[in-house]
Amino acid sequence: MTNQQAKIQELIEKRVQARLGGGEKAIEKQHQRGKYTARERIAQLLDEGSFEELDMFVTHRCTNFGQEKKHILGDGVVTGFGTIEGRLVYVFAQDFTVFGGSLSETMALKICKVMDMAMKMGAPVIGLNDSGGARIQEGINALAGYSEIFQRNILASGVIPQISAILGPCAGGAVYSPALTDFTIMAKGISYMFLTGPSVVKTVTGEDVTQEQLGGASVHSTKSGVTHFVAENGEEALMIIRKLLSYIPQNNLEETPLMPCEDPIDRLEDKLNEIIPDSAKKSYDMYEVISAIVDNSEFLEVQPDYAKNIIIGFARFNGQAVGVVANQPKVLAGVLDSNASRKGARFVRFCDAFNIPLVTLVDVPGFLPGTGQEYNGVILHGAKLLYAYGEATVPKVTVTLRKSYGGSHIVMSCKQLRGDVNYAWPTAEIAVMGAEGAVGVLYAKQLKEAEDPAAFRKEKEEEYTKLFANPYNAAKYGYIDDVIEPRNTRFRIIRALQMLATKKVTNPAKKHGNIPL
Ligand code: HXC
Repeated sequence: MTNQQAKIQELIEKRVQARLGGGEKAIEKQHQRGKYTARERIAQLLDEGSFEELDMFVTHRCTNFGQEKKHILGDGVVTGFGTIEGRLVYVFAQDFTVFGGSLSETMALKICKVMDMAMKMGAPVIGLNDSGGARIQEGINALAGYSEIFQRNILASGVIPQISAILGPCAGGAVYSPALTDFTIMAKGISYMFLTGPSVVKTVTGEDVTQEQLGGASVHSTKSGVTHFVAENGEEALMIIRKLLSYIPQNNLEETPLMPCEDPIDRLEDKLNEIIPDSAKKSYDMYEVISAIVDNSEFLEVQPDYAKNIIIGFARFNGQAVGVVANQPKVLAGVLDSNASRKGARFVRFCDAFNIPLVTLVDVPGFLPGTGQEYNGVILHGAKLLYAYGEATVPKVTVTLRKSYGGSHIVMSCKQLRGDVNYAWPTAEIAVMGAEGAVGVLYAKQLKEAEDPAAFRKEKEEEYTKLFANPYNAAKYGYIDDVIEPRNTRFRIIRALQMLATKKVTNPAKKHGNIPL
């Protein structure tokens, strides 16, 4: 063996050693926990053979608690770049087989390096989290490492897409990196996110909770809204990331690539001409409308189990990716409340930041009344959605299907919030409030004095309905651009989006606005 060959052999051996992470026993334990290793996950996530690993030979620098005797090549994270459907992405995957994936100073440097590269090259960064948090032996250096990552998350926000999968524990302040990113995906049974674990909770509040009850996927997808997607397992979580990225551009200066579309753009959907029930109190399923109008009925819903009275997600019209926001009349009659407003606002802002047009489908009776909502700050939360739509400069197409009353009419991408094309179905009711409420206010005195209050109410409600519960009153003023036949909605939206392709609007120069947080 020549000198050079020996050196190459040494490299090969070092690579083999690095790829074993915490060793065979730790890998076996990871598999027994129902989890894949960091490298296995990266292989599942990226296009086959596309991964280029960086910093494989980095080791920690800690000398406390005997750490100087425990060096593992690569430390607790695997980092690098590769492609998804041929498009460049940067990735870091915490390696639980190495010190429980806990974050050391050098691990943070590795993560920051790929984040910096992602910013420089304008490509998404994907973090696969599986970690016991700050590496306890490193003390303040581990905390500094987290802070460096958070700072980069903040500066990258709105510039490159940032996606986090939680594929194991994610506890303590570590949760703030995923929280700062655009989308979080949790996998059932293996992922947990909480600021303080069950034992601290027990000490401080006396509450007995399991990890699952405190911060499992079901909690964060239904109660807190912290996670955007839930996968059946780790592998599915990675497939969701691949799908999600297909709707998103590489950075804020680009647009999402067009997909070939074989679904006819002028497909008529007769069932939409019959979907609105005769009674205003009856509901229908907005998912049926979405699935009827988008390409191939494909809809990637975001936060499907949280604030179900509003639906958000990605779809395509004639191959062009859009963000869909729709009220759901089947849940709480489609009313807007605090959680629905926050959910909608964050999504609208994401789409706007990344040049993804917005299609809004409206059937909203108003904001949910009551002390519960008011004490919870529904004024501020509703204002978030209002702000998000008003600030958005991407193409905005709005279709009002049925109710669009009062403040909620304004909030849901109305004309005056710079809605570009606002259509309505003939069944639309665009007014300050519904007939029942309006008559109660306008005729309060007469209702008390009437001989037959019920008949008087009926007569007045019919009068009000005829005058206001229609789209023509708004169309008369140009607040609605056209009243369209429901079955033709897909075609009209596609035409509007085509027309808006060259839209250019800029907001006044400022450091940043002050969204009502
Ligand atoms: C150093 C750690 C570690 C940590 C785990 N390990 N967490 N080493 N620092 N934070 C090590 C374990 O000692 C063990 O080493 C190996 O990783 C695997 O851990 P296990 O406990 O055997 O695994 P498991 O039973 O699955 O339990 C996983 C766990 C648990 C729930 C994550 O390890 C745990 O509770 N760890 C501590 C979590 C924590 O309190 N972190 C600090 C949070 S505060 P060996 O050598 O035995 O294999 C924080 C502040 C961040 O993170 C602030 C940012 C702003």
